[in-house]
Amino acid sequence: MSLLRWAGTTVSVLAVVAVAGVAFAWRGSIEPVTRPDPASFDPAEVRRGAELAAVGNCIACHTVPGGQAFAGGLALPTPFGTIHSTNITPDEETGIGTWSEAAFQRSMHEGVDRSGAHLYPAFPYDHFTLVSEEDNRALYAYLMTRAPVRAEAQANDLPFPLNIRMMVAGWKLLFFDEGRFAADAAQGDDWNRGAYLAEGLGHCGACHTPRNALGARKAGAEWSGGEAEGWTAYPINALSPAPVPWDAEALTFYLRQGWHPEHGVSRGPMAEVTGNLGLLPDSDIAAIAAYTASRMGEPDAARMAQAETAREA
Ligand code: HEC
Ligand code: HEC
Repeated sequence: MSLLRWAGTTVSVLAVVAVAGVAFAWRGSIEPVTRPDPASFDPAEVRRGAELAAVGNCIACHTVPGGQAFAGGLALPTPFGTIHSTNITPDEETGIGTWSEAAFQRSMHEGVDRSGAHLYPAFPYDHFTLVSEEDNRALYAYLMTRAPVRAEAQANDLPFPLNIRMMVAGWKLLFFDEGRFAADAAQGDDWNRGAYLAEGLGHCGACHTPRNALGARKAGAEWSGGEAEGWTAYPINALSPAPVPWDAEALTFYLRQGWHPEHGVSRGPMAEVTGNLGLLPDSDIAAIAAYTASRMGEPDAARMAQAETAREA
């Protein structure tokens, strides 16, 4: 299919669904508040929020290299055009200073801003929707106690009609399920902690999953490998191509140190991920590693033999 026809189809599908979605997806504005006094937040909660923000990699997308932390403006290229991240410092005019906790909770869970406008899924709320209210409260405490930075939002560069935010309602109807994390009773606490962090805030699947023509994660292909900022994000499920199969121990080392003797250095966007994870307690890293290892499964005899050859080489 030619690119133009593809784009045309994409747009008409979204337009039809957007119209259907309007009635369903209408979200009202949440009243602005005066910026909460930073001293009103519990310091322990703020510290927890800092760890959670590291898991969510918020700073990577919301900071221009060399710029002020969380002030937004980073250009994120998508197949549809360029989307700029927003200022999430508590500046009252250009950031989220007038957002109540409820408005923040809604943005993480539903991908809607304070005024009720739909946010583009370049903001990975299709993962963040799994985050608990409690963790969002800590994230809010962390963000609202950062220094406010005045930085106007950059205009997005999206073609008509994708520049109309109501189109996102159509996308959500097709691809977005709001919902909190549900623990798997058949698994232990560690595994569930790892699943919660990896599938939710950690949004590993945002980079490690292939996308369909409308930019959504391909159904049934979770963690089968994707692309991030021009880098290949290898499969991290049973399709893992690693010459030496990963196990929980190697994953813990890699996620903690940013490299592993048998797997090399984490580069590009993954270097940011492992750099940020450095803030986490060992138990959380081990939990993410245990969950990831279980998704990769036990390597079969052929892969074990391949590993031996790779180790000897
Ligand atoms: C992969 C990149 C990416 C990551 C990671 C990311 N964001 Fe964002 N975020 C964006 C983009 C892009 C937008 C703007 C979307 C739009 O304009 O529709 C955004 C918008 C937002 C908004 C709405 C702000 C507004 O003014 O409307 C909030 C709140 C937010 N992000 C918080 C966070 C938090 C908290 C984290 C970490 C837990 C985070 N983001 C991680 C890309 C990202
Ligand atoms: C922003 C995009 C992005 C996110 C988010 C991300 N990754 Fe990655 N990941 C990558 C890229 C790109 C690579 C390849 C890095 C390289 O070539 O050195 C990679 C590599 C890896 C590898 C090494 C794979 C191999 O076989 O060499 C593992 C393991 C991994 N990621 C796990 C995770 C886990 C677990 C998470 C969630 C906590 C995660 N990643 C989140 C982009 C991402």
